[in-house]
Amino acid sequence: LPPVIAIDGPTASGKGTVASLVAEKLGFHYLDSGALYRLVALASKKEGIDPHHPQELGDLTQKLLISFKNGLILLNSEDVTEAIRTEDIGLLASTIAVHPEVRQALVGVQHGFRVSPGLVADGRDMASVIFPDAILKVFLTASVAARAERRYKQLIAKGIPAKLTNLLEDLQERDARDSSRGAAPLVVADGALVLETSELSIDQAVQAVLDWYQA
Ligand code: CDP
Repeated sequence: LPPVIAIDGPTASGKGTVASLVAEKLGFHYLDSGALYRLVALASKKEGIDPHHPQELGDLTQKLLISFKNGLILLNSEDVTEAIRTEDIGLLASTIAVHPEVRQALVGVQHGFRVSPGLVADGRDMASVIFPDAILKVFLTASVAARAERRYKQLIAKGIPAKLTNLLEDLQERDARDSSRGAAPLVVADGALVLETSELSIDQAVQAVLDWYQA
């Protein structure tokens, strides 16, 4: 099987940016697993499904037609690249992600990204659940303050209105939910190397991962 680099970490840690750049440098494929949970969140909102109904959410997840094409994310052939990036959908994603029914329905989709010459997979449970045989496992994190600021800049750059204090609260709420849930909680997986990026530039973080991979 092609090699996998698993990069897990809390919300707004910058792992998406770092993971996609590492993939680019190595010519590997890139899996943004968070986008899958965001897609389910968006679809469930459109269908009016209660976020606390695991069975209905699981069934919905199994029926979704998801595709990633030329940097666009399609849901049942509709372009939802922008629509899944709001804070609302991020929060809803973390709510529906607690259900094993939803997580299970996304396992096959995620394994499908493991194609030659290799994969960089970004998420919460890449190293612990989805790709336990990953050749390199990185837990990428940063302080809450650094993460809130990163998320703020990211949203503003996209023209999405944001308030720093609200973002801090949202981050903490999401951290708590991601780490305390029963199914695939956010943990530092066995054998994972911790990369603390509060004081690192993007380039430095990317280089650290590449150095570990090439070591
Ligand atoms: O952008 P941000 O880091 O806030 O979130 P994301 O990576 O887009 O993921 C959205 C939500 O999906 C997270 O808050 C997690 O609760 C959930 N998620 C998960 O449970 N497992 C994953 N492998 C990826 C995301």
